[in-house]
Amino acid sequence: MNAEKSTRHSLRIALFGFGTVGQSVARILTELRPEGLELTQIFNRNVARKKVDWVGADVVWSEDADAVLNSGVDVVVELMGGLEPAGGWIERALKSGKSVVTANKKLIAYRGVELEKMAAEKGGHIKYGAAVAGGIPVIPGLEQGLAGDQVNRIEGILNGTCNFILSEMEQGADFNAVLAEAQKRGYAEADPTEDVGGFDARAKLAILMRLAMRVHVNPDEISPRPITAVAPIDFSYARDLGCTIRQISRAECVGGHVAASVGPSLVPLTSPIAWSRAMMNMVMLSGRFGGDVIFSGHGAGGSPTAVAVVSDLIALASGSRRVEIASERAAIGTESEVAHYIRFRVKDRPGIVADIAGALAKEKININAIVQKPGCPSDDLPFVVTVEPCKASALKRALDAIKQCDYLVEEPLDMQILSA
Ligand code: HSE
Repeated sequence: MNAEKSTRHSLRIALFGFGTVGQSVARILTELRPEGLELTQIFNRNVARKKVDWVGADVVWSEDADAVLNSGVDVVVELMGGLEPAGGWIERALKSGKSVVTANKKLIAYRGVELEKMAAEKGGHIKYGAAVAGGIPVIPGLEQGLAGDQVNRIEGILNGTCNFILSEMEQGADFNAVLAEAQKRGYAEADPTEDVGGFDARAKLAILMRLAMRVHVNPDEISPRPITAVAPIDFSYARDLGCTIRQISRAECVGGHVAASVGPSLVPLTSPIAWSRAMMNMVMLSGRFGGDVIFSGHGAGGSPTAVAVVSDLIALASGSRRVEIASERAAIGTESEVAHYIRFRVKDRPGIVADIAGALAKEKININAIVQKPGCPSDDLPFVVTVEPCKASALKRALDAIKQCDYLVEEPLDMQILSA
């Protein structure tokens, strides 16, 4: 051990939030005892009901955030989530020169640039390796291993809960039963809309876009499509088309413009993304120089997420700094041209396919296939039209025209089809 190391004191850590991830962080710190890290405080509301006997006896339990922030801790680990009060606590910690480690994707997606600047001004750091894809080191991978490339495309599965639900539905499970199971296991966000509505994934996509594509976008400009409209029949039709269904987050730089989308999509069974099941996440990055890189692993849950948090703490303790990645403000300004799957449910009568084909033709959208299973009831008949790559805006105009027709039982379900 060199002289500098032997005189440096351990980083005193305050844990904000003793839920699923917070407990796993405390467990790892207690069991592995990484050098240079000392858990000194745990903050939680109604802290008495949270106390456990397996953390060190010296650890102070508190429900007074101000007292913890004013104490002599070096690093605040924020695992409460949400924009406030977490944002205010993090600001105060950074302004007093402390460093912060957080898993808060929403806060980093909306305020990451500002908080990084705040940290740099006072000589601290803010690290958020756990904010995207849980235990998969995609953020350190981008900051270190891929900093030398120019990433032009991001594609993958960024929400474990949606992946769990859709991969179980693929096997015949019921949507609500699987969602309840994900919540019971502590995977899902407190409000399931964040997961199934695509808001959690879009925050993660915005963070990846900044680090990978160096564009700083407002997450609100990405309109997520929920997975709730996906029905068992869609898995059956997807299989007929050689595909399965996953929630896919996608961003691309096309001719200097940025495109981004989040929603349920058809994934060819030959794509590695289709192999990602249950709580796994997968991120495929396409670099201009290095080609494709795939990250895969456990994207949610206490222990995998805690590994990312503790890894950030170890990096801070060893004095490693994140690589400064400059990003430019950008608007979501273009659309990728991709193939689509559109599932209709109709009251049967002659002329429906002709009508749909006419609306698509008017927008110069080319039909690829029409698939209809025999034996379905004529008052609720599901069938599928796939179309060749087209702009989402052109398809929307065609679908808006089709929606005026009297034969629809429900709104058509439109999903992108990933290329193989
Ligand atoms: N709720 C998230 C998911 C985990 O299901 O992936 C935390 O980011």
